Amino acid sequence: MKNRISELLSEIQRFEAESKDHIEDFRLKYLSKKGVIPSLFNDFKQVLPEDRKEMGILLNELKQKAQEMLDIQQTRFAGVKEEKAQIDSSLPPKKMTGGRHPISLVRRDINSIFERLGFKIAEGPEIEDDFHNFTALNFPEEHPARDMQDTFFISKSPDVALRTHTSSVQVRVMEQGKLPIRIIAPGRVFRNEAISARAHCIFHQIEGLYIDKDVSFADLKQTLYFFAREFFGPEIKIRFRPSYFPFTETSAEMDVSCNICGGKGCNICKYSGWVEILGCGMVDPNVLEACGIDSNVYSGYAFGMGIERITMMKYQINDLRLFFENDLRFLKQFEQLV
Ligand code: PHE
Repeated sequence: MKNRISELLSEIQRFEAESKDHIEDFRLKYLSKKGVIPSLFNDFKQVLPEDRKEMGILLNELKQKAQEMLDIQQTRFAGVKEEKAQIDSSLPPKKMTGGRHPISLVRRDINSIFERLGFKIAEGPEIEDDFHNFTALNFPEEHPARDMQDTFFISKSPDVALRTHTSSVQVRVMEQGKLPIRIIAPGRVFRNEAISARAHCIFHQIEGLYIDKDVSFADLKQTLYFFAREFFGPEIKIRFRPSYFPFTETSAEMDVSCNICGGKGCNICKYSGWVEILGCGMVDPNVLEACGIDSNVYSGYAFGMGIERITMMKYQINDLRLFFENDLRFLKQFEQLV
């Protein structure tokens, strides 16, 4: 019993409450009717008569110390309102630890510009079958993008691969058959490319798709002009150059005036004054038909842009690999931009 008492004594003396609940636990454990100390008093009856005096003193001392400790801790917490009542879980945290990745910042900005125009965000799988990534998008059988050199295949026959563009999400949304469609599809895409300052095997795209009756190239131009001005500022100029994509006809690429030199010419725009930022065009009727949409009634436009490219322009970053290396010296520069 003596050992038990001295064990308990040091336990009690070490006690430091963290909350009012914690103090109550202490009281219940040591001092309440069913607590440890009263039960020792019960055991006292079995103590040999010659030891009683000493044990009695020790036991009373233990009880007294426990009571003292209880009082001390109670006064410590007397002025403190219960923490639970103080926490308002709906408040934003005072300081965010860490920051957002520049790609996330730009993706969010682009999303919000298109959301203001009524576009909804759509998502699809990163592992895709041949139909959604290529066939429905009018890629000819022998198109080089289907080649092993460009695509990461997971299996051959059936062809399953990592999607090479978020255009696959277009197909998935069109298949659902709910018209009109006005979506943007942000996401990761994969291409079997050598990693360099300007290319990576993983990158991010945002694809847009609008399908309704009487959609024209003028609608596409106006939407993209709005986007460019919102994103780069009111001074920005845009221009369209004819291009080719299997899934659009007419196809174009859009350039914006170089935001570094304002169009005068610098090494970023290779002294042309323009930087290419996206591909776009009118959805090819073959694509509409492959997805079960009547191309005599409906038309639409699509566009797709690489988020890395736009982020590099916005923040004047000259090496794409920085986005994937998680070097804190790089990431910390964006910490303030929440
Ligand atoms: N999917 C194309 C690419 O990855 C971009 C694009 C999307 C072009 C939509 C036109 C229309 O390069």
